[in-house]
Formats: sequence, C-alpha cells, structure tokens
Amino acid sequence: MSKKVLVAYASKTGATAGIAEAVGDELRAHGHDVDVLDVARVKDLTPYDAVVLGSAIYTRRWRHEAVHFLRHHVDELRQRQVWLFHSGPVGPDKDQDQEMPSTVRHLAHEIGATPAVTFAGRLEPETATGFLARRLAAGNLAGDARDWDKVRRWSADISAAIEATQRSTWHRPPAGHFLG
Ligand SMILES: Cc1cc2nc3c(=O)[nH]c(=O)nc-3n(C[C@H](O)[C@H](O)[C@H](O)COP(=O)(O)O)c2cc1C
Repeated sequence: MSKKVLVAYASKTGATAGIAEAVGDELRAHGHDVDVLDVARVKDLTPYDAVVLGSAIYTRRWRHEAVHFLRHHVDELRQRQVWLFHSGPVGPDKDQDQEMPSTVRHLAHEIGATPAVTFAGRLEPETATGFLARRLAAGNLAGDARDWDKVRRWSADISAAIEATQRSTWHRPPAGHFLG
C-alpha cells in the first residue's frame, strides 16, 4: 500500500524547489503518492502520512514560511514521520554541513524529527535577486552545486523508512495492548 507524502519547500530563487521536485520524483519512483508544494500553500496535513520539509538558508536562517509551517503544525507533525533538509552552501564550502538555526532545532526536537540534512545550493547571476545576491553570484560562490545523487540517495532512504513503518504498523498490536 503506497503512502501519501507531502514534500513542502521554502525557496526564494528556485534552487530548493528543484531539490524538492527531485525528492518527489524519487519517492514516486518508489511507488508513493506525492504532492510537492510551496510550503506557503499548505493548509491541511490531514491527507498526508509523512512530510518532507526543505528550506533555503539565507544568512544562517531558514525562510520564515518554513519556520511558520513547523510552528503552526507541531501537533500534526508529531503524529507523522517527518524529514527535514536545508539547501545553502555553494562555492568552495559546498560540501559543508550547515547547522540548523536554533528555532528550527527546537521545533524539530518537539516534533521528533531528526536533524536536517544539508544539500548544496545554487547561486547564479541569472536567478540572484537583490544587490548582495548579485554581488555574491558574480564571485567564486557562483554556480549550481546541487548534488542530485545525494538527493536521490536520501530520498531512497526515506522511502525505505516509510516502507519499514508500514511493515511494523501491519504487526502493531491493538490500541491499549500494553496498558493493562
Ligand atoms: C544573501 C545570501 C545569503 C546566503 N546565506 C547563506 C547561508 O547563511 N548559508 C548557506 O549555506 N547558504 C547561504 N546562501 C546561499 C543560498 O542558500 C543558496 O543560493 C540556495 O541554494 C538558494 O536557495 P533558493 O534558490 O531555494 O532560494 C546565501 C545566499 C545569498 C544570496
């Protein structure tokens, strides 16, 4: 039985959205029913068994709409399998794991999600918006550093974890079994 999975993203210039689409494609290839949506458009988690949330990192912070989503859905997320990723590093430090901002770390802890995995990002003159971004995109940080193999491997791991839960759910004893 396939699971319904939400892959939600917060992206300013499209790089994180592209990673979310790749995660969605991989999960679909494993037979899951997947919606890939801008996190600002997600109002209701009822249809979903599992959630993947990704945010771009800007000046060490997550996009506010991703933080808003975590904060406003703590209870629903706690009842689902949740995976987090953030996309950021470019240039010579593209393989460096990034720390989760402390607000996100606390929310992830409340939800019971494991720490966010870091994916390299993209910074290009064509998509950069604003003075600072254009300046950075003109230097040695410029380029598309996204590592599609890493994204696919991570997505395959998620699929395996979802399937493992299905198997264990199948054998789960009736509610109240351990309470007597
Ligand atoms: C002004 C600015 C600040 C940034 N700050 C960070 C940062 O603190 N950490 C990081 O890893 N990447 C940082 N980046 C890189 C972006 O996160 C990267 O370009 C990302 O892939 C953009 O994602 P998006 O296209 O989904 O918005 C920054 C980029 C810009 C333009």
